[in-house]
Amino acid sequence: MRQKMAAGNWKMNGTSAALAELETLIQGQHAATSELLICTPATLLSRAAELAADSPVAIGGQDCHAATSGAHTGDLSSDMLKDAGATAVILGHSERRADHSETSEDVAAKTKSAWSAGLIAIVCLGETLAERESGDTLSVVGNQLAASLPDGATGQNTVIAYEPVWAIGTGKVPSLAQIAEVHDFLRQALTTRFGTEMADATRLLYGGSVKPGNAAEIFATSNVDGALVGGASLKAADFSPIIAALDAS
Ligand code: PGA
Repeated sequence: MRQKMAAGNWKMNGTSAALAELETLIQGQHAATSELLICTPATLLSRAAELAADSPVAIGGQDCHAATSGAHTGDLSSDMLKDAGATAVILGHSERRADHSETSEDVAAKTKSAWSAGLIAIVCLGETLAERESGDTLSVVGNQLAASLPDGATGQNTVIAYEPVWAIGTGKVPSLAQIAEVHDFLRQALTTRFGTEMADATRLLYGGSVKPGNAAEIFATSNVDGALVGGASLKAADFSPIIAALDAS
């Protein structure tokens, strides 16, 4: 069976002082049964990885370049993230797609790079509000899935995060039926392309305004294997009850 996963995305939040929150989170999670991940800003990655060594919390990055090295000022390679202590990297987050014009083809190239460094690629997909309102949600996420995932994806090297753009940081959450519809569709799309074994092994996370108050019902929804959490991952007091809800699901 798929191990549940709770992944935190700190985005561009946190200086050294934020490591105290990570320490508090780690201290409370020694009995967690879900896989736990915090994706810190790159500046905190190696210190976070040192803090989290021998703990149930793994540390990840939030993006990587597709190339291994070279003249790409300001970018980071997957090898660099791995070297700093990351075990995973978020790719294709809607903020990257919007702010940096990343295409699904870019995401696929980054995903290959992540795999070659031995990182788990957490590949993000999701429709905008306009796309949902015009009835295009499944075709949008289906196209993003097809183009963002290279051949060779497995349940070990890849996690999919469904994050409706309009639910990120807004406090708005799709209905449970809407979440189930997309997650069931994604599982089926993985089955069609990669086969049952891969589809059964791949975690499908929901992301977008997951909070302690709505986590349990989201985790009880069809084909939801965990969450990618932004704002509520910044404080141990918020993320811990989400992890507890996932462990109990
Ligand atoms: P949010 O962000 O939980 O703050 O809505 C989720 C994400 O962007 O991964």
